[in-house]
Amino acid sequence: MARVLLTGGAGFVGSHTAEALLAAGHEVAGIDNLRTGCVENLSSFAGHPGWRFFRQDILDAENFNRVVREVAPDVVLHFAGLVSVPESIANPGLNSEMNVRAVHVMIDAAVMAGVRRVIFASSAAVYGDSTAVPLDEHSPTRPVSPYGEAKLAGEALVLGRGRTLGFEPVCLRYFNIYGPRQHRDSPYSGVVSRFLDRLRAGQPLVIFGDGRQTRDFIHVRDVARANVVAACDPGPLAGIFNICSGSEVAVNDLAAALQRQFLSRLDPIFEPGRSGDVKRSAGNPTRAREILGFSARIALAAGLSEFEGNSVAP
Ligand code: UD1
Repeated sequence: MARVLLTGGAGFVGSHTAEALLAAGHEVAGIDNLRTGCVENLSSFAGHPGWRFFRQDILDAENFNRVVREVAPDVVLHFAGLVSVPESIANPGLNSEMNVRAVHVMIDAAVMAGVRRVIFASSAAVYGDSTAVPLDEHSPTRPVSPYGEAKLAGEALVLGRGRTLGFEPVCLRYFNIYGPRQHRDSPYSGVVSRFLDRLRAGQPLVIFGDGRQTRDFIHVRDVARANVVAACDPGPLAGIFNICSGSEVAVNDLAAALQRQFLSRLDPIFEPGRSGDVKRSAGNPTRAREILGFSARIALAAGLSEFEGNSVAP
């Protein structure tokens, strides 16, 4: 049994990961300032004896350090951060605070508390306009947004400090995560939840650019399982891992699949491409499979079919 601390514990990925860790018998503490996370995300396990929750902003270093010392975790999973590429462009200062300074604060607290392993939520956005699709962990990193730059800086911090200060640094490069509890009602939400929101409201989908840009979609329960595997690996474990499905899907094809599922005949509205938008993104999942023993299991069609819609045969 491990004692695990999740920053961003009430968020989309954090709450699914907490649930999976508790189900596997671990002791779990979550920290969240509830900026985008919410207590409803915790409802299925809030009363679990292995769970503790602290409403706390990481950037308040003194109080955050106190929580980390009190929990005394073996492993920290750092999910707290700003998750949206367009928001990082609209508010680069906030992006630096939440995606870079917060990593410094988290590492300082982890080191002081003698944490054995730090797992950092990185992103496929670090590959940016790298054309070596499918992208593996040795592909060039060429971020095209403040978000991607900050995630790359966060990786460098975690890996560098891990080497010099003696904790095991693990960076998980998540591709495009979707599934229940993802924010829907914000312009900064992910594409699957944006599309669902509009379909449920009977509105046409909005596609940025020509819709031929691609993404590698991975279900949040697969991501939670990857996180449990990374947290519980007997180790020593260090380095960078893609967490992806390995399938490349165009935004147009995602739109068409969801329109079929929801029986929507409205033509999508095409709007200008977003700045900082990656053109092609699909990962090579080999390293995660070989070293962590992790492979995604939920195919996109199966994951999407969980959403309420007037399901029809494809
Ligand atoms: C997403 C994640 C980011 C993660 C990265 C990994 C979110 C909000 N962002 O970024 O945290 O690190 O994947 O690859 O979860 N689009 C439309 N119409 C819409 C919304 C989006 O056409 O209504 C398009 C976008 O222009 C983009 C694609 O869909 O080409 C995906 O967009 P989005 O879901 O916002 O995610 P990413 O920017 O890929």
